[in-house]
Parts: sequence; C-alpha cells; structure tokens
Amino acid sequence: MPLIAVLPGDGIGPEVTEQARRVLDTLNLELTYEEAPVGGAAYYSDGHPLPERTLDVARRADALLFGAVGDPRCDALERQFRPEQAILGLRKELELFANLRPARLFPGLEDASALKPEVAGAIDMVIVRELNGDVYFGEKGFRKTAAGRREGYDVMSYDEDEVARIARVGFETAKVRSGKLCSVDKANVLETSQLWRDVVIEVSAEFPEVELTHMYVDNAAMQLVRNPGQFDVIVTGNLFGDILSDQASMCAGSIGMLPSAALNGSGKGLYEPIHGSAPDIAGQGKANPCATILSAAMLLRHSLGIEEAADRIEAAVTAALVSGARTPDLGGTLTTSEMGDAVLKALG
Ligand code: IPM
Ligand code: MG
Repeated sequence: MPLIAVLPGDGIGPEVTEQARRVLDTLNLELTYEEAPVGGAAYYSDGHPLPERTLDVARRADALLFGAVGDPRCDALERQFRPEQAILGLRKELELFANLRPARLFPGLEDASALKPEVAGAIDMVIVRELNGDVYFGEKGFRKTAAGRREGYDVMSYDEDEVARIARVGFETAKVRSGKLCSVDKANVLETSQLWRDVVIEVSAEFPEVELTHMYVDNAAMQLVRNPGQFDVIVTGNLFGDILSDQASMCAGSIGMLPSAALNGSGKGLYEPIHGSAPDIAGQGKANPCATILSAAMLLRHSLGIEEAADRIEAAVTAALVSGARTPDLGGTLTTSEMGDAVLKALG
C-alpha cells in the first residue's frame, strides 16, 4: 500500500493539510499515512527544522503532502536552524529537481484576480521551475571587503546536466499541452543564463514538435501582467521560478489556489501549496485550503498514477467555486474547514 508522508509544518500549514486529508480520506483509496514535524514546528519539538525522523519518513514514502514552513520567531536563528531549510533540505535530499506550478484561472474567480477580468480569463499555464541548483544552493556567506565593509554573497551557477534535465521536463510538459515552451533567463547579463539558454537550445533538438522561445526574466514579469494568455509552459531556474510563480498566482486569482509538485527522476514527489505559512492568519480559519487540496490531486496523478481520483478532486474544487464557496482571499466569508466542507459536498 503506498505510503504518504504528511508534513503539515508551520502557520496555516496544519489547517490546510487537514482539509486535504479529509478529501483524500473521503475517496477511500488504499493509502497509508505517516505524519512528521517539519519547519519551525520541528525546531521547537525536535531541535531541528528537518529532524532525522522526518527525513526517514520522507525517504520511505512514495509521496509527500507538505503544508508550509516559516515562523517569524525563527528569523534570528542561525540559517541552518530556520524553517525554510526544511523544504530546501527535502528538495535536495530527495533530488526533487522538477517543480511543476500550474496556474490557471478557475471559473468565477475573474474578479479575484489582480488583473482585468478579460486579461485574467486567459491564464492557463505551467511554470516548470528548477529546484536543486542556482543561487539557492551555491556557496554563500558573509565576508569583509578590502575596505573592511560587510559583504554578503550567494554564488549563482548551473551545470549543463542540471539545465538539460529540467529542460527535458519543460519540453515533455509542453508536448502534452499546446506544444509551446518559453524558456526564461537573464542571458543578457548572466553567464549562468547564457549557459542555460545554450543548453535549452541543444535539448530542443530532441523535441522538434515543440516550439521553443526565450524571454528575459524582467520582460517575462511584465508580460505576465500585460498578456498572461500568451504563456503555456515556462521553464526557468530556481530563483526566477520562485518569483514568477508567486506573480502568476495573483494573476490567476489568489495565491491560495495554486498547487505544486516537486518531482525526482522516478516519480516520487513532494506536493505543496505554493503559498507560505502566513503566520498573520494562522489558527484563525481564514486560510484557503484549495491549493493544498489541489496539491493532493497532483500527488495522486503524478506519484500514484490514480488519474481518476485526481480528476474528481479538481472537478470538486471547481464545482465548489462555481457554487459560490469562497474563503476571504477570494472575497468570501467561509472558514478553512467550511471551504473543505464545500469541496467534500461537491465530491458527492
Ligand atoms: C517556495 C517558497 C520557498 C522557496 C521558501 C519557503 C524557501 O518561497 O516554495 O516558493 O523559495 O523556494
Ligand atoms: Mg516562493
């Protein structure tokens, strides 16, 4: 029986994960679950944001359902003890290099978008973000300049194999969608990006059916608000993908709606909402559980191959929204668990 590691984490993580669990439980799938602490919660219970017992469950699991990490009480800790190190550590440890972040506007959410309804209505894209390299994992630190001034540094780099493997995920994703792939970089300034662009072009020879374009990241940020409907699949590095996916989420209505998958080369994945722990609203029942519920659907599809149940969850979220169910981020008044109720009701 497949094992799902459930890592609720900090802030609103536990509330939204609970609703995703209710949805999974209702489907009566043959799954087992093991819960473990992660992030600030784990720092306070176990003395480390990614304790050995959590890593152990994560390694044994077929897939991971993840809430969120981040706790302002931990901001002053040494970096290795900060909650964010847990998600970065899991991505690296489990070699979850391919991040799929679909952004689409659900019916009826046109008014929740930060964009004009007619512009927002066209959003339906997947951002394929690299997760194991870039400035996130390069050498970093603090040092003194020759003049004795403090300096912080983070080295940005990608090697060609890292670029090629994420590029292939981008092309594969584009192949089963519209056949259009846009690679986003900053090749006009960065050598890392020049190599990125060269390698993506080399890999494109393997996918003659996919039309490849390139865009600088600043222009991509602008185009995302000007005309988001032009994008289908975007492939980009870790840092640019982090930023563009938050931006795409608000174009699509709410950051509370966007799920994500972080996959390794053999189908194992970590599934999480793209939003953070939102400590300002934690424990108040204000969080939108849809992104986590939709992440559970991605888990069933990408790691367990249970396509039909994934489709059912996505249809139920759509139906709940169409029936008018809305949490405060979407301009409504439902609590987190009431939104969960609405999705369960739509599941039938
Ligand atoms: C995300 C988050 C993380 C990231 C943080 C929590 C480390 O913003 O998943 O987008 O920067 O990747
Ligand atoms: Mg982010």
